[in-house]
Amino acid sequence: MARVKTLFVCQDCGASHPKWAGQCDGCGAWNTLSEEQTADIAPKGLSGSKGRKINFVGLRGSEACPPRLPSGIAEFDRVCGGGLVPGSALLVGGDPGIGKSTLLLQVSAALAKSKGHARCIYISGEEAVDQVRMRADRLGLADAPVDLASATSVRDIMASLDRADPPHVVVADSIQTLYVDNLESAPGTVAQVRTSAQELIRLAKRRGFALFLVGHVTKEGNIAGPRVLEHMVDTVLYFEGERGHQFRILRTVKNRFGPADEIGVFEMMDSGLSEVANPSALFLADREGEVSGASVFAGIEGSRPMLVEIQALTAPSAFGTPRRTVVGWDSGRLNMILAVLEARCGLSFGSNDVYLNVAGGMKISEPAADLAVAAALVSSLTDVSVPPEAIVFGEIGLSGEIRPVSLSGARLKEAEKLGFRHAIMPKRKGQKNGRKTDTGSGLIQTETGHLQDLLTLLSPHTAGSPFSAVGGQS
Ligand code: TYD
Ligand code: MG
Repeated sequence: MARVKTLFVCQDCGASHPKWAGQCDGCGAWNTLSEEQTADIAPKGLSGSKGRKINFVGLRGSEACPPRLPSGIAEFDRVCGGGLVPGSALLVGGDPGIGKSTLLLQVSAALAKSKGHARCIYISGEEAVDQVRMRADRLGLADAPVDLASATSVRDIMASLDRADPPHVVVADSIQTLYVDNLESAPGTVAQVRTSAQELIRLAKRRGFALFLVGHVTKEGNIAGPRVLEHMVDTVLYFEGERGHQFRILRTVKNRFGPADEIGVFEMMDSGLSEVANPSALFLADREGEVSGASVFAGIEGSRPMLVEIQALTAPSAFGTPRRTVVGWDSGRLNMILAVLEARCGLSFGSNDVYLNVAGGMKISEPAADLAVAAALVSSLTDVSVPPEAIVFGEIGLSGEIRPVSLSGARLKEAEKLGFRHAIMPKRKGQKNGRKTDTGSGLIQTETGHLQDLLTLLSPHTAGSPFSAVGGQS
């Protein structure tokens, strides 16, 4: 047997160090090294017997693939690409208390009660069986035929699942509580998490059940444990939401069997998570009427259009270096837009603190939000409101030009559905600046080619501004 040596392994990136140090050399994180045994980490070389020959097969198999398992919870099924793929492994990450266990219990119950009568097993390493039962009672799921167990030993779990009539779905809540008994390291360490996940995933592939692994996230918002965990599974889902808000967003970060970047929206109620079929209405529900510093962005999340309100506040700064604070958007991108507004449009934010907030706790990453952010910023600086019945979208280039974005039709349609009347959007090819086209879709589309056009539009004194009647209260 190899001599057992102690190494210090970063719990974030998995880099190993011979000595303890405050900072990891690999990823630069502080205070993440923990002691582990080399026998657990060092890969053992191949020695001894010869390997078995592998049979190669064609892409088109002789039998049809087993069908996906839809849970009937539409928001969840869409995020998984239309249902669970047998034999796949899904990692569900999220902050403590965000609702991962609740979601997976509801999904298991829905699968068990669905037409396919999937056999579901829910293994909790964090809660006792009675506690899970109590939760199921509260959720009104006590009659769902889900098999419960409270276990943490991977060996025991494997022994119970490795059988000729395997279940269809297995939930392991959470991977950080599971342990493999031939490793010295404590549960939750890199070696344990990696090995436990590996063993369970291998079994899931062999026996053809869908495996959910629940993963905790670190302070920085990454799934705790080695990054390799995300590579080992087929699908990575993040369950996110703000503590003060009721709604939760399930987001696909990676999916081998469907589109990534898809989101599902849920609301946390007394009786568990309920689906939100029309998230735009939810995000815009608390909107004030005509106020300066706010604009409605028509965004696309995955395959779905979604409207969110973007709020900006500019206030005289008390300090030499003004503050730039962003919630729900990229701060680098905000700085870029401020720079473009200053350099290309002659506005000055230099002596102002700037705060930007995506209302409702939504996080957006699309560059298409640039124009809506600029509109909110300009509106806050000039104290002229963007008309409340207008939506805004478009990407801004460094010279101040507004670039077209994808799926404008879907954005316009969603806005129309929610009763908006104007759209401030990029110019389409071959059309002149500021041209108004009534497409008969019920929305007046005002196309802008340059940021300067936006400033003109938002000025109440501009003759011919389509908003002069509704905007403006300078
Ligand atoms: P939980 O699923 O235990 O979170 P996680 O597994 O991600 O740590 O969710 C716990 C939170 O959800 C808790 O703060 C209370 C809330 N909750 C409700 O509001 N309603 C409910 O019906 C349930 C079961 C939980
Ligand atoms: Mg939990």
